[in-house]
Amino acid sequence: MAPQFMMMVMMLWFGIAVMLLPSETGVVSVGAANAGISVEKHLVAALKDPKVTQFVLTSDVVLTASLPPSKKDFALVGRCRDQRQRPRLCVVDGQGKFLGFKSEGYYVGMSDVHFKNMRDTRNGTYFGDGTGAVAFAFNGKISATRCVFENNKALSAGALAVRDSPLLVTDCQFRNNRALFQAGAIRVYSNGVGTVRRSVFSGNTAGTSGGAARAYEGRLNLIDCIFRGNTARNGNGGAVIFGGDSSGVLSKSEFVGNTARNGSGGAVEVEGETAYDYINFCSCTFRGNSAKIRGSFNVNIAAYTRVNFCKNKPQGLRVVKPGKAALNCTVCAQPVE
Ligand SMILES: *[C@@H]1O[C@H](CO)[C@@H](O)[C@H](O)[C@H]1NC(C)=O
Ligand SMILES: *[C@@H]1O[C@H](CO)[C@@H](O)[C@H](O)[C@H]1NC(C)=O
Ligand SMILES: *[C@@H]1O[C@H](CO)[C@@H](O)[C@H](O)[C@H]1NC(C)=O
Repeated sequence: MAPQFMMMVMMLWFGIAVMLLPSETGVVSVGAANAGISVEKHLVAALKDPKVTQFVLTSDVVLTASLPPSKKDFALVGRCRDQRQRPRLCVVDGQGKFLGFKSEGYYVGMSDVHFKNMRDTRNGTYFGDGTGAVAFAFNGKISATRCVFENNKALSAGALAVRDSPLLVTDCQFRNNRALFQAGAIRVYSNGVGTVRRSVFSGNTAGTSGGAARAYEGRLNLIDCIFRGNTARNGNGGAVIFGGDSSGVLSKSEFVGNTARNGSGGAVEVEGETAYDYINFCSCTFRGNSAKIRGSFNVNIAAYTRVNFCKNKPQGLRVVKPGKAALNCTVCAQPVE
């Protein structure tokens, strides 16, 4: 065959392969190789394309607008490398202005991404407004693996929020996130179920309660986590607050230097409103936490709640009747679901 013809065949093949790749696999990969065209544009296009379910990021993104609301299941996968070709997290920077994923009914996944300076302080009437600056899901699901959430800000839930949805967080770090009201980093409510493993929460603050996290009418399990230097400025639960019939297992987690500056429960506050909150502490440790309300520098248990400790009750435990604190290792002997 003539060389020109060969060339054309190859170009055609290449063109078809490139065209087929995204639609067949639902995966789009964009990064440094495409530096001429904005990575942000590709990400937004992928989010809007109904066929694309995954976007592989290979370079950092500085957002110039908020991400469009999710209309399908979607995962953002970071695959960035440093100058020596070692894997590193890809940075998504919201510049203190822009918000991330908002999903009603869909899955939002993220891995190996460092989200910073995202913001959702909208004061709108939709219940997803102002909550979860990086991601919010209602009747959907959020999963985050090996991510860092830093300096994000919202009215509630500086980083992630779920309502009637599962939230799975594994090997992540939450640093200096801020909520003007509740839940500095994470909020789980209205039958939301959060399970957070091997993650570190440091320096997060809530204007009111739950310096790092708040569960309300939901479930929040915290396994092998570290809570360090989180603050509830004007409420309860320096690190975590459980309220409104919430349940959870806090296992092998460490609470250090958390503060309820003008409230109770320096590390953890457990409140109940209608019946029992089934909260189980399994081999957790407490150090250097503080609270305004006397005697509650580690844990405060308020009305209508029963809390189990295994194997010891911590110091700085305050129980408001008819709340109860029991020694009971039944739940701790079972795997966390
Ligand atoms: C948000 O809404 C509340 C009450 O609806 C109002 O008092 C407040 O001024 C609003 N804040 C902003 C920043 O719009
Ligand atoms: C501290 O909390 C009390 C009520 O619990 C409230 O009256 C007071 O204004 C709060 N202090 C500050 C500095 O907000
Ligand atoms: C310990 O907790 C389990 C599970 O919540 C419960 O069934 C059991 O009755 C408790 N044991 C005691 C002695 O209260």
